[in-house]
Amino acid sequence: MTDPAMQLLRPEYLDATGLKVTNPADGSEVATIRSYNGAELTGIVDRAEAARHEWAARTAKERSDVLRAWYNLMCIEADALARLMTLESGKPLDEARGEVKYAAAFVEWFSEEARRAYGEVIPPHAAGKRIVTLRQPVGTCAAITPWNFPLAMITRKVGPALAAGCSIVVKPAALTPLSALALENLAHQAGVPQDLFRVAPAIRSSEAGDVFCTHPMVRKISFTGSTEVGKVIMAKAADQVKRLSLELGGNAPFIVFDDADLDSAVDGAMASRFRNAGQTCVCANRFLVQAGVHDAFVERLTARVAALQVGDGVENPSGMGPLISDKDANRVADLVKEAEAQGASKAGKAPAIPEQGAFHAPLVLTGVTTDMAIAHEEIFGPVAPVIRFTDESEAMRIANDTPFGLAAYVYTADFARQWRVMEGLEYGMVGVNDGLISTEVAPFGGVKESGFGREGSSHGLAEYMNIKYCLIGGLER
Ligand code: SIN
Repeated sequence: MTDPAMQLLRPEYLDATGLKVTNPADGSEVATIRSYNGAELTGIVDRAEAARHEWAARTAKERSDVLRAWYNLMCIEADALARLMTLESGKPLDEARGEVKYAAAFVEWFSEEARRAYGEVIPPHAAGKRIVTLRQPVGTCAAITPWNFPLAMITRKVGPALAAGCSIVVKPAALTPLSALALENLAHQAGVPQDLFRVAPAIRSSEAGDVFCTHPMVRKISFTGSTEVGKVIMAKAADQVKRLSLELGGNAPFIVFDDADLDSAVDGAMASRFRNAGQTCVCANRFLVQAGVHDAFVERLTARVAALQVGDGVENPSGMGPLISDKDANRVADLVKEAEAQGASKAGKAPAIPEQGAFHAPLVLTGVTTDMAIAHEEIFGPVAPVIRFTDESEAMRIANDTPFGLAAYVYTADFARQWRVMEGLEYGMVGVNDGLISTEVAPFGGVKESGFGREGSSHGLAEYMNIKYCLIGGLER
């Protein structure tokens, strides 16, 4: 253990016979950590359930102060957290630092929201009665989080859970458990009780899912990941009618109209498509570009893509990193090959990529049609497929013709069209003349097969609270 960032990991996290974590930039081993089996996870949930009552009994201010202390420690350790994230996920250091800030912002936000979990006093329907609502913590929660944002997807679940007075057990992605464990360590140092919030890596993900779905004390599960796995969790959790928040797959359209500010659209396209090497659920997955600006947009986008520096995330901190695994790089390459065989073509010259590691060159693909797999499958890689359209109704038809409904983007200078398209897109989030919509202050979440439930904003806290309606009678004068 030579890297100083490893000092954020407590010795008990490591286990030479456990889960091996490797760097996707070169396949080297980063650490081998303890993995929990089903029986051990059950014990962790039991202890979380026992811990939650004392935490819920604290005042909102006391909970808020502990969350604020955790936020402060995250800021102090930001560089080390970012470095751990780069080593395990390949995300370039600058982006990793950005994610640490983003992750910490959820903890800060929910430290503030903790004090605003207000109930209501409702004018009664009859004399001698009073109606109030209380907002109470849902209880013990479980979360299953992905590898693409190893910290932020945890804090936007754990922040509101703790703020609400719940306990929570997180199974992080098996590919990126190190920064998650470091986060747990900092939370405990900040005063979060040990059993109240646990990060429990598990080699056998489905075993963890089974414990979470069947343990009677788990009252809520929050999952970020694929639609396929989300459906399995939903079916298994149905037996105990558990509360769920599901943030699932996306197929975001990015629509550019003839009247758009093209420089701004290209900036937005770069930020949206190539952030995290294209591995985000809200990434622009297909570019719908109106015929009048199609060629100019492709030319400008291609020039920007050609200038991307691709390499190891430590040595190339401001460029683009590898994908999470060789398997994923090959999957993206297959999607591109299939599209080319069906008539699509690569625009311009793609940047060079390292020979070793899970790299895929960033590229723009033109001549894409809606029947190609690349136009309707979530790519999760640095490829920008461009589809030409002629008018607004065609763009809307193509954009909404998908079972997914997470994020969508539109670029147009026409104010009336901004509203028309924004309202007509069947998505949970819409960026108008902006390609980066994620922030702790807004309610992130999807519709249709992209899931339900909101993360961030005051809605994010409501996901971890039950409403109790109380009628007080016998108050006649
Ligand atoms: C995701 O990819 O699931 C989240 C991306 C974000 O928060 O911006």
